[in-house]
Amino acid sequence: MTDARKIIIDTDPGQDDAVAILLALASPVELDVLGITAVAGNVPLALTERNARIICELAGRPDIKVFAGCAAPLKRRLVTAEHVHGKTGLDGPQLPDPTMPLQPGHAVDFIIETLRQEPPGTVTLCPLGPLTNIAQAFQTAPDIIDRVQQIVLMGGAYFEVGNITPAAEFNIYVDPEAADIVFRSGVPLVVLPLDVTHKALTTRDRIAAFRAMGTEPGRMVAEWTDFFERFDMQKYGSQGAPLHDPCVIAWLIRSDLFAGRHINVMIETQGEFTTGMTVADWWGVSGRPANALFIGSVDADGFYALLTDRIRRL
Ligand code: RIB
Ligand code: CA
Repeated sequence: MTDARKIIIDTDPGQDDAVAILLALASPVELDVLGITAVAGNVPLALTERNARIICELAGRPDIKVFAGCAAPLKRRLVTAEHVHGKTGLDGPQLPDPTMPLQPGHAVDFIIETLRQEPPGTVTLCPLGPLTNIAQAFQTAPDIIDRVQQIVLMGGAYFEVGNITPAAEFNIYVDPEAADIVFRSGVPLVVLPLDVTHKALTTRDRIAAFRAMGTEPGRMVAEWTDFFERFDMQKYGSQGAPLHDPCVIAWLIRSDLFAGRHINVMIETQGEFTTGMTVADWWGVSGRPANALFIGSVDADGFYALLTDRIRRL
C-alpha cells in the first residue's frame, strides 16, 4: 500500500458511519486505514466502539486496530441520536457480537502516537462524529497539529441549516467546543456538511442494488439504509435518506465528484439558539481568512456508482 493515503477514521457508528467504514476498507489501493477511533455520539461509547469492531469483521478485517476514545464532550453532557439510529446505533439487521479485540489504550493516545511516528503531513484524520477525540488530542499534544496532512470531516451545515436544532448539525452540536478547537487549529479542513450530504439520498433502486449483490456486506448496507432512512423521509418528506459519512470517504477516493468553496467557517459556542452552528462565510463578507473547503454539491449518481462498486468487492 505504498501510494495509499494513510487515514485514521474517527467515528460514532451509526449506520452511515458503518457504510463509510466499509467503503474505506473496500478501497485499499486508495486508502490505508491506520486505525479506527470510536467516540461517543450517535450512541454511547460502549456501543460505538463495539459497532466499529462489528463493522470491521463484516468487512473481513479483524486486523484493523479499533480504539475507544472519549465518552463525553469536552465540556457538555452527551447528546445521543437513538431516535435516528436505534438503541444499538446499528439497528436494522441482526448483528453478531464482535470477536476481534478492542485495542488497549485510549484513542486519543493512538492519534497522538501515530501522528508523531508517521512523517509529517502524511496522515489524514477523517472524523465522522463529534470532534471530541480530535480536539482532546490537539489540546494534549499541540505538537501534532502541524503534522496532520488534512482533516476531512462530516459536519456542519449552512444553506441546509440544522438537523438536531434549527441552527446546528448533530456532530458539531454535540461538542461545539471541540469543533471550535479543530476549526481554529489551522489544519487544512475539508468539510462535508448537510448541504452536500442531503444531495446524496438513498432511493429504492440504490438500496436494491446493495441487496442484489447477494453478499453479507451488501445485505447489511441495504438493511441499515432501510432502517436509517425512515427518520429523514418522515422529517423531510424526502424520497430517501442522506448517506452523510460515506461522503467523507468518497471525497478521498473521487474528489472530482464533489464541488465546494474555500471559505471561512467558524463555530458558534455561545448562542442561546445557535450553539453548534457552522457560520460558513459562503459569500466572503466577514473578512476572516478561509480555513476550510466547504463542499456544497455532489454527483449523486457517481457517488452511488462508486459506493456500489466498492461494497460489491467486500
Ligand atoms: O448529522 C449527521 C451526522 O451525525 C452523521 O455523522 C451521523 O452519523 C451522525 O453522527
Ligand atoms: Ca457519524
